[in-house]
Parts: sequence; C-alpha cells; structure tokens
Amino acid sequence: MKKSILSLALLALLAACGGSSGENKSQSGAADVSKDPVYQKGLELVGKSDCLTCHKIDDVFTGPSYRQIAEKYAGASDAIITELGGKVIKGGNGVWGSALMTPHPAISQQDAEAMVKYILLLKK
Ligand code: HEC
Repeated sequence: MKKSILSLALLALLAACGGSSGENKSQSGAADVSKDPVYQKGLELVGKSDCLTCHKIDDVFTGPSYRQIAEKYAGASDAIITELGGKVIKGGNGVWGSALMTPHPAISQQDAEAMVKYILLLKK
C-alpha cells in the first residue's frame, strides 16, 4: 500500500515535470534575467548602497518589496525609469504609504536609473 502511494506520487511528479515543458522554458527565461548586464549592474549598485536596509526582494519591509515595485510599474513607459531614479535621489513618500525613503544625493541620476532598471526586471 505504502509503495503504491509512493509510486503514484512519483508518477504525479513525473507528469508535472513532463507536462510543463512550456513552463520550464519560461522559467529558464526568467533565470536568464540574472545574466542580463543591466540586471547585474543595477544589483551591484544596489548592493553598494543602503537600499537593502529598507527594501527586500520579496518581502515588504520599511519600503515596498522590489517585486511589488516591479509589478506596479510593469508596462509603464520608459519615462518611469527617469522618474523613479529621481525619486531615489530626492527621497519621498506617499506612493506606498507614509514611510519615508531617505534621499540619496550622492547617487548620480545615471546610477539611480541603473538601480531602477534592475528593480523593474524583478517582476514575475
Ligand atoms: C530609509 C529606508 C529606505 C532606503 C534606504 C531606500 N528606500 Fe526606496 N523606498 C522606501 C520607502 C518607504 C518607499 C515608499 C515611498 C512612497 O510611498 O512613496 C520607497 C520606494 C522606492 C521605490 C518606488 C518609488 C515609487 O514612487 O513607487 C524605488 C524604485 C526605491 N524605493 C528604490 C530604492 C533604491 C534604489 C534605494 C537605494 C539607493 C532605496 N530605495 C533606498 C524606503 C527606503
């Protein structure tokens, strides 16, 4: 009895793997994002700054999660990159709640935009 349950589970597992070849493709597509130089550059800059003291990739912390930000602005025009880059430098609140993002005047607009591009790549 136990054995047949196990083999059923195995079968289900096999079916799940075999049946989702299309899905696997899109998953490896998502994994490829991490090889994107835009992603790598932005990640490096984010890692060097204090962003991660307030932002997590998946979890809401002091600030919204990076995935939430990516979802919110998915499909927005490129102008949003300039806008959000400017906001990282100037700081602010009111879009996600009353918590404040501290200003980052030492970051150039170019670097801020590189960080934003990385964040926006994190959409699911
Ligand atoms: C002191 C905490 C803190 C730090 C440090 C911080 N953030 Fe934020 N961030 C926030 C909060 C809070 C919000 C939400 C602001 C709002 O509601 O308008 C936010 C929002 C954002 C947004 C979305 C803005 C919008 O208008 O939707 C981006 C993009 C962002 N942060 C990027 C960064 C980057 C990149 C860094 C590092 C350079 C950084 N943050 C550092 C707290 C922080």
